[in-house]
Amino acid sequence: MATTNTTMTRIVCVAGARPNYMKIKPVMDALERRGAEVLLVHTGQHYDESMNGVFFRDLGLRPPDHFLGVGSGSHAEQTGRVMTAFEPLLARLAPDAVVVVGDINSTLACALVTAKAGPLLAHVEAGLRSRDWGMPEEVNRVATDRVSDYLLASSPDAADNLRAEGYRADQVHLVGNVMIDTLFANLERARQSDVLRRYGLTRGGYGLVTLHRPANVDDPGVLAGLLKALGVIAEHCPLLLPVHPRAAGRLTELGVPGGLRLVPPAGYLDFIALQDAARIVLTDSGGVQEETTALGVPCVTLRDNTERPITVEQGTNVLAGRDPERITATVARVLEHPPAPRRPALWDGRASERIADVLLTGGGAATRPRPTDLI
Ligand code: UD1
Ligand code: UDP
Repeated sequence: MATTNTTMTRIVCVAGARPNYMKIKPVMDALERRGAEVLLVHTGQHYDESMNGVFFRDLGLRPPDHFLGVGSGSHAEQTGRVMTAFEPLLARLAPDAVVVVGDINSTLACALVTAKAGPLLAHVEAGLRSRDWGMPEEVNRVATDRVSDYLLASSPDAADNLRAEGYRADQVHLVGNVMIDTLFANLERARQSDVLRRYGLTRGGYGLVTLHRPANVDDPGVLAGLLKALGVIAEHCPLLLPVHPRAAGRLTELGVPGGLRLVPPAGYLDFIALQDAARIVLTDSGGVQEETTALGVPCVTLRDNTERPITVEQGTNVLAGRDPERITATVARVLEHPPAPRRPALWDGRASERIADVLLTGGGAATRPRPTDLI
C-alpha cells in the first residue's frame, strides 16, 4: 500500500439525499482506514425515515457529525440554504479537502462553497453527461465539475467527457464506481431480506419499477402515459413500484392500473433484494441503471437519454423513452431476449480504495495548483 500523505488529514464528506449514502459510505471507510480524519456533513435534503434513516441503519453509516437540516424547497431555496449553512461550518472545520458525490442540489451547493473557501474539492462521479439541460442534475454535474480539483470518474466515457471539456490530465482520475463497492459489500446481506415474502413475490416472477425524475412525474400527462404502459406490461408481469415521495401525490390523483402495486420507498437492503430477484426493472433512476448492470438484471430506462451510457453499451440497460407504445414494445423485446450482462471494468468493489489512493497518496496531491488554467 502506498504511504499516506500527511498534509491531507481532515476530510469533510457530504451527503444529502437517498442516492448519496451508498456512495459516501465506502469512501469514508477507505479514507479512515488510511488514517484520515473524516467528518460527515448531512445537508438534510432528504429527511423521511424511508428516504434517509433506513439507509444509515442498512449501510452501517454512522450518524452525521454535522446536520444542516435544509429540507425541501425550490432549487434556489434548497441550494441557497445549503450554501448558507455550509459556509460557516466549513470555515470552522477547516478541512484539507471536501468530498461531494453525485449530482443533487446539495452536491452543487457544497461544491460552490468549497471552491471559494479554500479546501481542495473532490467530486465522486465526475464527468457523467446526459447532455440534457432540461435535467436539473445535468446543471449540477457540469457546474460541480467546473469547480472541482479532483474529478473522480466512474467510467471511461465520463473521463473522456472531462478531457474533451478541457480539464487537466492530472485532475481526471478513472477510479470506478463506488455505488458498486457498496452493492457488492451488501449483496449477501440483502439476499437474507424477507422482502419477497412480505410482498408475496417470487424470484423472477415480477418487475420492479421506480419513477422520480421531474420530467416523468411532475407532468400529469406524461405520468399518465407511463402508467398506461405499465398497465399493459402488468397484464403479463406483475409490477411493484416503491413510490418516491416526489411522485406520491400525483400517482394517487391519477390512480394506477391493475397489476401495478404501489408500496412505500424501500430501504437499501430490501431494494437491492428486489432488484436482484426481479425479472425486469423499469426505472428513471441513475443509480438503478448501474446496479442492474452490476447484477445482470434486465433494465429498461424510461428516459430519452442517459448520463450512464456504459450501462447500455456494456450492461443490461435499454433506453425506451417515454412513449407508451415504445415502452411496451421495448419491454416485450427485452423479456424475450434479455441483454447479455457484462460488468464494466473497475466496477469491482474497489473504487473507494482507488479514491483514497488519489486523495491521500501519490506525491503531494494536496499541493497541486487549483484549476485556474482550464477551458
Ligand atoms: C433529488 C435529486 C435527484 C435525485 C433524487 C433521489 C436534486 C435537484 N434532485 O430529487 O437528483 O435523483 O433526489 O431520490 O437534488 N420529499 C419528501 N421527503 C423527503 C424528501 C423529499 O417528502 O425526505 C418530497 C418533498 O415534497 C420535496 C420533493 O419530495 O419537495 C422533492 O425532493 P427534492 O430533494 O427536492 O428532489 P427529489 O425529487 O427527491
Ligand atoms: N433505492 C432504494 N429504495 C428505493 C429506490 C431506490 O434503496 O425504493 C436505492 C437504489 O438501490 C440506489 C439508490 O437508491 O442505490 C438510487 O437512488 P435514487 O433512484 O433515489 O436516485 P438517483 O440514482 O436517480 O439519483
